[in-house]
Amino acid sequence: MANVIIVGTQWGDEGKGKIVDLLTDKVSLVVRFQGGNNAGHTLVVDGDKFIVHLIPSGILHPRIKCLVGNGVVVDPEVMIMEIENLRARGVKITPANLMLSEKAHLIMPYHKALDLAREGRKGKAKIGTTGRGIGPCYEDKAARNGIRAVDLLDRKTLLAKLRTNLDEKNFVLENYYGVKPLSRARIAREAARWAEFLAPFLGNVVLEIDKAAEKGRHILFEGAQGTHLDLDHGTYPFVTSSNPVAGTVCAGAGLAPGRIDAVIGLVKAYTTRVGAGPFPTELKDKVGRHLGRRGQEFGSTTGRPRRCGWLDAVVLQESRRLNGMDYLAVTKLDVLTGLDQVRICKAYKLDGKRIGHIPADIAAFARCEPVYETLPGWKEDISEAKRIEDLPDAARRYLDRLSELAGVPLGVVSVAPDREKSIILHDPFA
Ligand code: IMP
Repeated sequence: MANVIIVGTQWGDEGKGKIVDLLTDKVSLVVRFQGGNNAGHTLVVDGDKFIVHLIPSGILHPRIKCLVGNGVVVDPEVMIMEIENLRARGVKITPANLMLSEKAHLIMPYHKALDLAREGRKGKAKIGTTGRGIGPCYEDKAARNGIRAVDLLDRKTLLAKLRTNLDEKNFVLENYYGVKPLSRARIAREAARWAEFLAPFLGNVVLEIDKAAEKGRHILFEGAQGTHLDLDHGTYPFVTSSNPVAGTVCAGAGLAPGRIDAVIGLVKAYTTRVGAGPFPTELKDKVGRHLGRRGQEFGSTTGRPRRCGWLDAVVLQESRRLNGMDYLAVTKLDVLTGLDQVRICKAYKLDGKRIGHIPADIAAFARCEPVYETLPGWKEDISEAKRIEDLPDAARRYLDRLSELAGVPLGVVSVAPDREKSIILHDPFA
């Protein structure tokens, strides 16, 4: 039995969907524990592309049960749409293979309205949120005003909570942001539909995890976003409103700390960032465009072009400290193919001084300049490589250096989008 956590080590979009999907063969449960439909996990099977935002990436495997933990914020509209879309493409989804925690907080229409109204007001100080209502929903959770999935089962409680919340939100929307208030009757009608559709999927995720663990089953915990978007440890305020670090699995899914067996850190072979915030290794030149084009770097949730840059080992080292990664899964190595040289940032220069960490002061982080190590590139097609020995010397050297600078051994290397196109050096469930 092994409980394995997969986390993003950068700013999200490291390719978690593919790696989770790849490692699911031996697991019984795949569990999400934070974030919401601001995530977008792309799965490619036999050339067919599936994007899931809320439902865990294991959903394509008929044997696996997918759990959405209490730490996730769930837009019921999106959950229903995802279930319906997957069903339309032949994926069977029933309460036997999908469970939503009764304790998960619901993203309500007023959360989305507030998210958009606030971003609109911020002008140049925009965070670049996905506009999915994530922040406002977590705010209500912390303020103890939230509506939870379990409330869908009790219409009277739900309507009472809706009234209190909406009175306040509409006041702010109308009087502070100058936007149209939302109709309570309409939300109440929609909520009746959510309740009917989602009620069979509601359950006790903690019990489900405990049962599987007691039976010695393998469980995979699927993180969303990335370590540097963490509300506490990320590049605040350019972060999301949850904690994508590995330890969140305890609070966000109810796994006891002693039951964590391994943490796998996902690393894209270069760096991307979507939304605003400092990004020391960003490339606005031909190489940046190469990475964006070859890597198809467009947000799977918003479609926005992602900012691209060289790999940043300072970012990876911070992730190692925070997540305690046992192995790295490197994705999109093939995107670097064709470049004459490849670079890794191994430290920053801040006001003339060399530093090896990310400063807490965001203005100081914005002044950090990367100190690079340059390595030779490779031109050979690597997409058919099955073993690490099949890779060109330069690609191997790059991987070795990445791993060395991060201080974490390699576990998986992905060489093309399809699930099969991966070199597995260490299977955490073997
Ligand atoms: P929010 O989570 O929608 O509030 O967005 C806050 C910041 O996190 C923005 O910069 C988003 O672009 C970024 N973000 C949120 N989710 C993801 C993700 O799954 N991948 C990459 N960036 C994300």
